[in-house]
Amino acid sequence: MLILGIESSCDETAAAVVEDCTKLRSDVIASQAMEHRLYGGVVPELASRRHCENILPTVEQALSDAGVTADELDGIAVTYTPGLIGALLVGVSFAKGLALSAGKPLIPVHHITGHIAANYIAHPELAPPYLCLVVSGGHTMLCEVKSHTEFLILGTTRDDAAGECFDKCARVLGYPYPGGVQIDRAAQEGDPAKYPLPRPRVTGSELDFSFSGLKTAVINTVHHAGQLREPVDAPSMAAALQTTVAQILTEKTELAAQRTGYRTIAMAGGVSANSGLRRTMEAMCKKHGYTLYAPPLSLCGDNAAMIACQGSYNFLAGIRADSSLNAYATGTAIGEMKAQ
Ligand code: KG4
Ligand code: ZN
Repeated sequence: MLILGIESSCDETAAAVVEDCTKLRSDVIASQAMEHRLYGGVVPELASRRHCENILPTVEQALSDAGVTADELDGIAVTYTPGLIGALLVGVSFAKGLALSAGKPLIPVHHITGHIAANYIAHPELAPPYLCLVVSGGHTMLCEVKSHTEFLILGTTRDDAAGECFDKCARVLGYPYPGGVQIDRAAQEGDPAKYPLPRPRVTGSELDFSFSGLKTAVINTVHHAGQLREPVDAPSMAAALQTTVAQILTEKTELAAQRTGYRTIAMAGGVSANSGLRRTMEAMCKKHGYTLYAPPLSLCGDNAAMIACQGSYNFLAGIRADSSLNAYATGTAIGEMKAQ
């Protein structure tokens, strides 16, 4: 079974072909990150324009690297939610056109489920059910992966996502976009105890997250130092932020594991590349004897291999779209991800 995956939800135009769900035949990513760096973050209109330019050569490259033609595919999977609407529409429109012209099934994929599926490519032995911590630029959630195509959200962020918090704090500390990886690098040189940061409490649901207070605390400390013309020790602030975020994410995951009884835990999304988070999650899982899975760094960020992989499972489960498929900017309540 050969599935082409197409991803264009943010600032990466990507296409990939997988065979039998998890075998990567090709994986092409045209990243716009360096261009958006000039503006300190993703400029939606610019992203849409670049997707328009990149989509055809990226898909052609993915097919040629895999040594297949569109005729040989079993289906075409595409990210339809969540993301930047103009960016998503480029991938969705292209996939609809290709599916129609090649006479192939069109398979809708929720981007977050794609991030989770990145784990199957690296660890084909991982099988649902298990608990997953999803941490990306736009989402932070704990979910039960009940099957390859059924997900139950146990907790989510009330405000900012963990990645957003890293990116905004990185910007105020003077690091370029995308800031998460810069915080990770800088944190290695810093003293996490130098700046005590608040631990936000979320009332109501203990498995929900809140990162806006932490972000504001970092921004206020930096601004206050600026007003006093005092230097900020950016690596130490980065280390304090990373340590705090990693502790919060790990403790909530530990609580979710205790409540649900899962002993297999996965991590997914761009922030799952964070070295501090990986360390605390590994230590927590070791303490309880849980098995921890995380994608390789190359599959943590946005890519189409994960979309093709999840698309393959959706295809096997009979999930299809027709030419009325639309793109949706926010999507946790739509389709296959259900709130508890
Ligand atoms: O999953 P992703 O590529 O895109 C979304 O779906 O949002 O996640 C991007 C996020 C950004 O906020 C980026 O700064 C963060 O992942 N990120 C990291 C690291 N690498 C990427 N955050 C912390 N540490 C990293 N090493
Ligand atoms: Zn993503």
